[in-house]
Amino acid sequence: MEKVKLTWLGHSCFEIMYKKKVLIDPFITDNPAATVSVSELEPDLIAVTHGHRDHLGDTVELALRTGCRVVCIHELSQYLKSKGVAAEGMNIGGSIDLEGFSFTMTDARHSSSIDEAGHAFDGGKAAGFVIRAGNVSIYHAGDTGIFRDMELIAELYHPDVAIVPIGGRYTMDARDAALAVGMLCPKIAIPMHYNTYEKIRQDPDIFASYVKASSDIDVILMDVNESIMVKI
Ligand code: NI
Ligand code: MN
Repeated sequence: MEKVKLTWLGHSCFEIMYKKKVLIDPFITDNPAATVSVSELEPDLIAVTHGHRDHLGDTVELALRTGCRVVCIHELSQYLKSKGVAAEGMNIGGSIDLEGFSFTMTDARHSSSIDEAGHAFDGGKAAGFVIRAGNVSIYHAGDTGIFRDMELIAELYHPDVAIVPIGGRYTMDARDAALAVGMLCPKIAIPMHYNTYEKIRQDPDIFASYVKASSDIDVILMDVNESIMVKI
């Protein structure tokens, strides 16, 4: 049995621990939902879904301090390399093996710009990731609206865990995210990207009740800094 530890650090930031640590979308500084400090984090690898400030976050500082690599879409990797970061560029539909994890980059219905770089760099597209650790498969949707090809993500990658944004306004809301989970057919669904700011205020119990009304998928409403063990 494989055990993968999954920790929510607030907003879209998760840590996956399986022998090594992957940090996804490390937005800590200026994140009203985060309570850890950047200096406590020691990732072996960072994955960034897109260039918006609430996802790219503290990536540059963390990567430069720890020397860890950053996996992201090609255009964002060009920006990070210009900052001296060891970035591993990839693109949608492709896969890469790093630090004992496998990453497949998926589509996301969203925009991407590198907020801190203004118009100096193209942010490429926004993306999501399917991350495999041992035989556990975790889909982190990034920021996205709902799209029918989530059925393809289920068919191709069989995610055990689906982490989906529910905050509305910039992404799916609770109802759309529940429909998305229905297409993704995971064993466990976890909401993210809500209640960080007033503009994305959302009741996660509404998401949970929509999912439970139409499936037997487990919904886990994580607290910030809470960890769960995913066992497959
Ligand atoms: Ni965004
Ligand atoms: Mn966002």
